[in-house]
Amino acid sequence: MNKVICTLLLSGLLAGFYSCNNSVHKPEYRGLIADNGMVVSAHPEASEVGKRILENGGTAMDAACAVEFALSVVYPAAGNIGGGGFWIVRTADGDLAALDFREKAPDAAYRNMYLDDDEEVIRGSSTSTILASGIPGTVAGMAKGMEKFGTLPWADLLNPAIELAEKGFPLTASQARSLNGLKRSLITRNTWRTSFIRETLWQANDTLRQPELAETLKRIRDNGRDGFYKGETARLIVEQMEELDGLITIEDLAAYEAQWREPVVGNYNGYEFVSMPPPSSGGIALGQLFNIVAEYPLAEYGFHSIEAIHLMAEAERRVYADRAEWLGDDDYFDVPRKELLSPKYLKDRAGEIDMNKATNSEEVSAMQMIPEESEETTHYSIVDQWGNAVAATTTLNGGYGNRIMVKGAGFLLNNEMDDFSIKPGFPNVYGLIGGDANAIQAGKRMLSSMTPTIVNKDNELFMVVGSPGGSTIITSVFQTILNVVDFNMGMQEAVDASRFHHQCFPDQISVETDGLDSLTIVNLEAMGHKIKPRGKIGRVDAILVLDDGKLEAGADKRGDDAAKGH
Ligand code: DON
Repeated sequence: MNKVICTLLLSGLLAGFYSCNNSVHKPEYRGLIADNGMVVSAHPEASEVGKRILENGGTAMDAACAVEFALSVVYPAAGNIGGGGFWIVRTADGDLAALDFREKAPDAAYRNMYLDDDEEVIRGSSTSTILASGIPGTVAGMAKGMEKFGTLPWADLLNPAIELAEKGFPLTASQARSLNGLKRSLITRNTWRTSFIRETLWQANDTLRQPELAETLKRIRDNGRDGFYKGETARLIVEQMEELDGLITIEDLAAYEAQWREPVVGNYNGYEFVSMPPPSSGGIALGQLFNIVAEYPLAEYGFHSIEAIHLMAEAERRVYADRAEWLGDDDYFDVPRKELLSPKYLKDRAGEIDMNKATNSEEVSAMQMIPEESEETTHYSIVDQWGNAVAATTTLNGGYGNRIMVKGAGFLLNNEMDDFSIKPGFPNVYGLIGGDANAIQAGKRMLSSMTPTIVNKDNELFMVVGSPGGSTIITSVFQTILNVVDFNMGMQEAVDASRFHHQCFPDQISVETDGLDSLTIVNLEAMGHKIKPRGKIGRVDAILVLDDGKLEAGADKRGDDAAKGH
């Protein structure tokens, strides 16, 4: 209790409010509540598509597939058929599954493909050129997901997206701004006039129509995965590759397979979390974070208390150091999962933390960094009337991927190759570093931070959660779960709460502008932390099952995210 009082005195009214009241803190407010099913995604039109599927008797998995295709139309910054992602599924019976539709390196890719003759990184080649694209996985992922879990006809899941592409949909204000900002790179990187370009500036509520994309989606509707990986769409992708000297071949496309993986499952304070294994680092990192903070009375410290922020940042510092060294696609690199998640190891890691003083990251790992974020991925969470649940995170990597649209096919290509370690110790766009574990190799999947997660309590579904945000995904998911389970917030409140992030290098706590009160910052600085204000961290879309069985949505106020329930 002393610590709590001390925190109150030191860190000012706001942090103090949460600290002092934590044991009795009740959710201050709630998000949308629904009786039967809920969809939370980055775009209202996509959430509406999912809700209609649920209302028509579809499952959460059917709805997830329809939402994925709808996002590829209404949310081109990150929604994708030219990219990839992950699903975590929990059936109403409690069965768990992890679907990996991450992009893969083309067969012609090789370790030093982004280095010049002096072995220096060719700036931009892994992010802004045709060479930045991995073989897209989304369409194969949806086909694989529906093979196992689909209950509605495949065409019913594609038709809403086709209609949105053909008839168009109203742009939100932020989408109009974003497309206007994109004009220059779209013109310089494409040899044709994409549907995102027009003479005058886009305004909110303007209708965006995408006829080529509608035709591509029809081919997928009519031919399943072959509508993308073979025939006309494959031909158009390869033509685009040939025109701009890209690597993806017709054979690469035909050979792409999505995979079912064994999810990472662990426990924290009586809750079971289920998350994504390699090629994502998310599940293992989350497991490490929970195990480290479990050694301390985090709930007692209180939300955004100095002790809580210090402890979580110190845990994150150590977990991201391990990520850089040990995580990669374990089809190609032997990820020491058991060792990374060993309770003894994590207890030792927790024991290294000095609760009075920040560690120097150089003492945790000896590499160096230059960070610069440009973030665009998207997460959606869905629960249906039977209790099936899907947590899905999917991406082109950077906003609008490499901004190259496949001529005639109307979709953007990813720049996911930058998620490989393109040179040991050289930071990717999220400032993440890596080495051998995540080096480029033909056919390998690049390491991800995407962390779609399902939390269970007493063997029942409790929460569905995930976020975009590059390297900050893991910490955003971690903090949102803690906000509910340790700090007693409601779902919407937990999602809205400000976030912070430490990734070992750079050695700093990034904090959303105005996210912490100034006295808390002064106290953290006195402990040796560097505090760096920045823009938004993550964009969490989540669903919480309340005590009475109703569903509460948390749709992140940081974006246009929307919850729709029934
Ligand atoms: O897979 C990854 O970790 C990254 N490609 C995710 C990128 C991302 O989250 C961008 N988002 N806002």
